[in-house]
Amino acid sequence: MQATLTISGKTRVFGCIADPIGHVRAPSVFNPLFEKHGVDAVMVPLHIPPAGLEAAIAGLRAMPNFKGMAVTLPHKLPIMPLCDEIGRQGQFVGAVNFAAFDDDRRLIGDNCDGTGFVNGMLAAGFPVKDKQVLMVGSGGAARAIAFSLADSGVARLGIANRTREKAEELTAAVSAGYPGVPVEVSEADPRGFDIVVNTTSLGLREDDALPVDPDLLDPSQLMAEIIMNPVDTPILKAAKAKGCRIHYGRPMFDHQVTIIAKMFGYDFPVPGSDA
Ligand SMILES: NC(=O)c1ccc[n+]([C@@H]2O[C@H](COP(=O)([O-])OP(=O)(O)OC[C@H]3O[C@@H](n4cnc5c(N)ncnc54)[C@H](OP(=O)(O)O)[C@@H]3O)[C@@H](O)[C@H]2O)c1
Repeated sequence: MQATLTISGKTRVFGCIADPIGHVRAPSVFNPLFEKHGVDAVMVPLHIPPAGLEAAIAGLRAMPNFKGMAVTLPHKLPIMPLCDEIGRQGQFVGAVNFAAFDDDRRLIGDNCDGTGFVNGMLAAGFPVKDKQVLMVGSGGAARAIAFSLADSGVARLGIANRTREKAEELTAAVSAGYPGVPVEVSEADPRGFDIVVNTTSLGLREDDALPVDPDLLDPSQLMAEIIMNPVDTPILKAAKAKGCRIHYGRPMFDHQVTIIAKMFGYDFPVPGSDA
């Protein structure tokens, strides 16, 4: 394999913490970006089993050239009490997906899943402000997206989920955080909404059921997806066939990369948006 980075004593070090570690993607996303933008930095995978998290964070804090980390399973919740500050979205979601040390070695954590989704929509020309949005799903990604949609001033948010209790719990949490935003538990029925967002894992497999009935979609509506692979999920294909505008899953990821890079101190353009 070809080495692409020249590491010296001046190189800033970032990490991606996880257990297991072999599947993590952040290093293969950030290292090419560091190289492309001429930044003297490297991101390394850090295999940290749960029992070692507290000691590992204390050790990383003690290393001034270690600047921050992408945080993935199982550390998204347990790292929270080890942070000195948690951003607004991280507090609402109750999970952190990145954390960076400031100049005083205070660890600041936050969650950018939802902001990545909303920013991706905006960049594609699909603002969510004042829109009626149906979100199908109430898992981890949905939780982050729901709070960001509310934060962005949607006119109404309907939340549908196979396990209704999870939709009820998420609806109550978003309502408590954003009392001015009408949030309700919904059926997976897109009629009456401007935007439908699939946050379920339905669509990862070709033979999955569809998250909403495409016969109930109309061409005035936007169907948004967060699944990245396949790119054209069955519900996106069906919505396109009905004449709806569609929004792919990838921009959510690309915009998160930009948000995390900014927290690491770098102003990178959104991947894919620059030459
Ligand atoms: N683009 C991005 O940057 C990005 C970021 C994060 C995640 N994602 C994608 O988002 C998807 C969800 O991730 P997650 O972390 O939120 O997963 P999760 O926490 O496991 O939640 C899965 C959601 O899908 C629903 N679901 C699963 N199987 C279903 C079925 N057979 N019928 C109906 N509903 C079903 C679950 O409903 P129940 O509550 O009833 O189980 C739940 O609402 C994944 O495909 C992931 O790849 C994309």
